[in-house]
Amino acid sequence: MLFHMPARLYFGSGEINHLSVIIDEYLKAKNPVLVTDKGIVHSGLLEKVLPQLPGIKIVDEIEANPKSDTINKIAREMHRHPPDLVIGLGGGSPLDAGKALALLGTNNGNIEDYEGKEKYKKDPLPFLAIPTTCGTGSEVTWVSVITDVNRKFKMSIKGPKLYPAVSIIDPDLIKTLPQSIIASTGLDALTHAVEAYLSKPATFITDHHAVKAVQLILGAIEGAYEDIKTHHTDRENLMFGSTIAGFAFGNSDVTAVHCISESIGALYDIPHGVANSIFLPHVLSYNLPACFEKMATLARQVGIKHADDRAAAGELIQLIKALSNRLGIPVFKDLKIGKDQFEKIAGMSFENNSTPSNPRKLQKEDYLEILENAYE
Ligand SMILES: [Fe+2]
Repeated sequence: MLFHMPARLYFGSGEINHLSVIIDEYLKAKNPVLVTDKGIVHSGLLEKVLPQLPGIKIVDEIEANPKSDTINKIAREMHRHPPDLVIGLGGGSPLDAGKALALLGTNNGNIEDYEGKEKYKKDPLPFLAIPTTCGTGSEVTWVSVITDVNRKFKMSIKGPKLYPAVSIIDPDLIKTLPQSIIASTGLDALTHAVEAYLSKPATFITDHHAVKAVQLILGAIEGAYEDIKTHHTDRENLMFGSTIAGFAFGNSDVTAVHCISESIGALYDIPHGVANSIFLPHVLSYNLPACFEKMATLARQVGIKHADDRAAAGELIQLIKALSNRLGIPVFKDLKIGKDQFEKIAGMSFENNSTPSNPRKLQKEDYLEILENAYE
């Protein structure tokens, strides 16, 4: 049983204040670049870190579902004044973009050339991750997901050298998140934990993290949604749950929920967490016959008492569905994706690398069935 997570973590309220010391004394970087997005700039969060990074070069053009041509363009510009550290500040998009840019900082060509596992020739630049949402998990995983604009396909670029060297996980950084982002990123984290637990490569160690993550997230998400500013413990638990959900899926895998959400994200630019929240209960219903015992074990860990395994598993699915409702997550129909697109989505989802990790075998037709059920 292998468990690998080499990133050095600084976790807790106020840890962001140690940023410059970490860069100077631990990473010993002299010329870092900061990768972020316009949302972070407008939120005022950038101002929280800039006093510690005087004169730093800022790249703020990362979009949601980061695109290959954006990454390639920034990398070409970056080569003119090569940095010795990449800092990613933001949600999943700036963090994944930061990993991709760290790779292209030392390797030639376009990011498309590095799709798959360990395709880099030279070790990427060190990467420092600072998550500002409670969902991505990218701060503790080896994968960067980038949309190949030509194929309209989300590529996974991964390898042991793509783990962040350092992650600063400061729950105070999510203090100003709008409710809709708390809901979608928090439910993304819940999806990571549930999928990691039920995935075929799950191990004793990933199960341990996944169960704890589900408990923390379910216990904290509504309090955080209600009032993120004053609910300090919920904020901390949600962020901690998101991180250890990353430990879990980073060392096992995700399943069919992410296969669908990555397809929909690449094709229609739907926010990742929203897509996951919509499909999680429907994929669980499909998977129930193959893993109701394990689902029931998870259900009992979050207080569902039913003695019958199938019934307990069913109750867990209902609990997740009701939670999504209370958190204002839209339904599939609200995304305005026509039924004529289902063939394409099902085909792409089936091709996703994580399809074999789903606990119940899936063909393209099964994805179609899940999409139809979610639509009704
Ligand atoms: Fe995710």
